[in-house]
Amino acid sequence: MNRIVDNSEESLIRAGDIIRNGGLVVIPTETVYGLGANALDADACAGIFAAKKRPFFDPLISHISSLEMLETLIKPPSHFIIKLIERFWPGPLTVVARKTDSVPSIVTSGLSSAAVRFPAHPDARKIISYAGVPVAAPSANLFGHLSPTRAEHTLELGTEVELIVDGGPCSIGVESTIVREHEGQLYLLRPGGISKELIEEVSGQYLLIPDGNLIDAPGRLPSHYAPSSRVIIIEEGESVPAELAEKSCLLAFRNGRPEGHFRCSAVLSQSGSLVEAASNLFNALHLLDEHNPEVIYAEQTPQTGLGLAIMDRLKKAAAAAVSGFNCR
Ligand code: TXA
Ligand code: MG
Repeated sequence: MNRIVDNSEESLIRAGDIIRNGGLVVIPTETVYGLGANALDADACAGIFAAKKRPFFDPLISHISSLEMLETLIKPPSHFIIKLIERFWPGPLTVVARKTDSVPSIVTSGLSSAAVRFPAHPDARKIISYAGVPVAAPSANLFGHLSPTRAEHTLELGTEVELIVDGGPCSIGVESTIVREHEGQLYLLRPGGISKELIEEVSGQYLLIPDGNLIDAPGRLPSHYAPSSRVIIIEEGESVPAELAEKSCLLAFRNGRPEGHFRCSAVLSQSGSLVEAASNLFNALHLLDEHNPEVIYAEQTPQTGLGLAIMDRLKKAAAAAVSGFNCR
């Protein structure tokens, strides 16, 4: 049976019903596809960890479709967080704040905080409101694999997933930016779809990078988001010896470099737009990976704007290759 369905009203209602009744559904969002379950149902959320083969120490983000749902998940947040919510929701921002007793501990990996996001994708919002409950949803890939930005990327998940709703290619293409307030300071737990610079401008605060001891920032594994092929980061325009290039693929940032002898190549953005590059990143890695290259040589992008999230994902993919994390 083909589990991928269109995003008709009927499909969205069915997706909401499955989630409310404890099942698993792949839902489209503007960042990446999510594997959704009822965030208030511990058994349903355990199913997410099993389907993804995800370790229990990596907590889940709960997705909402109204601000009333927020109150069931977290205690009143600080004014910095409220400012960010007012400006960026619905959208690719996740906030972490003190959790309420309604959130099962499996969702937060036992932490006293919970992560919440109000997605902008109209299908995600409808599915959540038809479900009538907040929806816990990590990216809909096997743990450590590339994130899915198209419905077909999620087919690697097993038959535990009852339905995959196709809402088209994800417009942002990298996961949400995760921000947490701690003792009057804002911390960037993960760079993502909203740039660090914009969050700093709106909040009037510098975003600090957690050092691991000060605040809980789980899930920040050095290796992650990995294709099957090895990833090596190179400088823009850096040449690769012909005998290596022949067996390898190139992920170029923008147009303009000679392709040389690469087996295949992809350009993230002809014009060098970091927003466009982010939206193409995971799909390009999926496509290059299908050629089974010995190496995917990925050109560096600037680390400003969405470039920070792009380079974060590429560095984690490259680290996975070094640690052998992604051996077939
Ligand atoms: O864009 C996104 O955020 C996507 C879509 C589906 O919404 N979701 C996503 O979820 O990226 P996931 O599971 O791949 O990332 C969840 C991460 C965890 O790895 C952890 O870093 C952070 O969110 N997180 C969740 N709860 C947390 C908490 N209580 N404290 C600190 N970090 C938390
Ligand atoms: Mg993920």
